[in-house]
Amino acid sequence: MLLSLGGCEEIVGERPRLGVLASGAGSNLGAIAGAIAAGELDATLSAVVCNVEGAGAIGRAREAGVEPALIRHGGFERRADFDAAVADALRASGVEWVVMAGWMRLVGREFLEAFDGRVLNIHPSLLPSFKGLRAIEQALDAGVAITGCTVHEVAENMDSGPIVAQAAVAVRPGDDASALRARIQRAEHALYPRAIAAAVAADRAKTTHQG
Ligand code: GAR
Repeated sequence: MLLSLGGCEEIVGERPRLGVLASGAGSNLGAIAGAIAAGELDATLSAVVCNVEGAGAIGRAREAGVEPALIRHGGFERRADFDAAVADALRASGVEWVVMAGWMRLVGREFLEAFDGRVLNIHPSLLPSFKGLRAIEQALDAGVAITGCTVHEVAENMDSGPIVAQAAVAVRPGDDASALRARIQRAEHALYPRAIAAAVAADRAKTTHQG
């Protein structure tokens, strides 16, 4: 639906159904669920998939009222089969947007196509700097004065794809990885819900103008 509000056009639609993929502590999952509960992110948390038994994300999902699917990647010989199992679990819950929140697995082209490219990731650096593992340690080793976090659309290559939003975080004298990680994660928790909303709005505007 296209509404005209005081000369501005605003796209209003159904709440997007999010499926969060998480491998770790789940603090970003908690931030997204919190933003939805607070009415700051107009979306539905429809599914959570975790690939690591005992990960904090499992409890975070339950706190948000979603029973997570535990799909261990070790149980699959081929990455494509693991991807297909994750995609099936998400589709079974009607997920439209996949939100990787500390998901430490690469996904293949078929997975991206299954969701029409509506797959987002957050990475703890200002991409394209410091891709891959230990991004925070890489930034400290490089001696940069500013690092941060990036939300991007997921493409096939690791930590690549169009950037949706970034937040800068200053490196302070004496920072170690844990101090810097804590500040980057605070920035992530503020950024990710807003970036999801921006990506959904941009996608709807594109679809509306095309159709
Ligand atoms: C986040 O800082 C996220 O940026 C990072 O993992 C952390 C997960 O924390 N992701 C990556 O490094 C992906 N390349 P969380 O489980 O508490 O949300």
